[in-house]
Amino acid sequence: GHHIMSERVGIILAGGSGSRLRPITNFTTKQFLPIYDKPLIFYSISTLINAGISEILIILNDQDLNKCSEALGDGEDWGVKFHYAVQKEPKGIAEAFLIGETFINNRSSCLILGDNIFHGSNVETKLSVASKNEIGAGIFVTKVRNPERFGILNYYKNGKPKSIVEKPKNPKSSSAVTGLYFYDKDVVEIAKKLKPSPRGELEITDINRRYLSENKLNIYNLSSSDLWLDAGTFDSLAEATDIVKTYKNKNNAAIGSPELAALKSGFISTTKYKKLIKAYGNVPYANWLEEKLDD
Ligand code: DAU
Repeated sequence: GHHIMSERVGIILAGGSGSRLRPITNFTTKQFLPIYDKPLIFYSISTLINAGISEILIILNDQDLNKCSEALGDGEDWGVKFHYAVQKEPKGIAEAFLIGETFINNRSSCLILGDNIFHGSNVETKLSVASKNEIGAGIFVTKVRNPERFGILNYYKNGKPKSIVEKPKNPKSSSAVTGLYFYDKDVVEIAKKLKPSPRGELEITDINRRYLSENKLNIYNLSSSDLWLDAGTFDSLAEATDIVKTYKNKNNAAIGSPELAALKSGFISTTKYKKLIKAYGNVPYANWLEEKLDD
């Protein structure tokens, strides 16, 4: 089927060295690590496809770039177009907009961190609302148990957002900013003016603060039934695998399938989808994709 190409472009930031996952990342790239039945990189790709985004820049470190671009290709099979770029050193999440400037080319964008996994029946709706909103920025917020580790929102008594603090020592709320951000075209110019933080990084929180101060920050709250995982440590990788497995066996539902996301978003036809299934051969993942055709 034909689809209306969204103007908004996507960026997957997966430029870290994966050092926290050594020794595994001495042998393979973090993006290939299995989250149950699929490599990690499938999950962020699926989130962008679910948001209706088909032009995607994948930012990787030097060593991972060739391996990933060889494995993923140009995206044609999934009705998308992958572009690749290198981040030499992890100098901050906001650097994605400097690396991606020519790719973005004055369009609105959506940034997702490569190890962030989103899922839930309402998430897809929220994604498409956020993606269609062309004015200002949109962030996805969720309650966490360890707010010291995240960008945390601080609210006025009337519930309006007051400020965002990166890794607060004394958190004023448990509402954390997740690794999925929507911006209008101004983000590149804002990123260019950033100064490195005390930890030496260009902070995404500083960008969000700027939109907040101009009253242009839309907040999308994930509900308690929505799933957000950040698979950056051994424990969270194992937890993610466990959740995806449990979820699939219980609900027979999709988490992180680019093929299914592409079919639903109208990026590929049913004929193409069937071809992709056939190419996998008689394997559990393909059989499951096949079953989904009847839903
Ligand atoms: O997970 C959400 C949190 O992500 C937000 O709540 C924070 O506001 C935001 O700053 C960020 O927190 P961290 O500083 O803990 O993110 P971390 O350094 O762990 O990086 C997150 C991912 O982004 C990680 O997979 C590696 C990748 N990354 C990070 C940086 C700094 C890059 O690819 N390049 C970079 O320069």
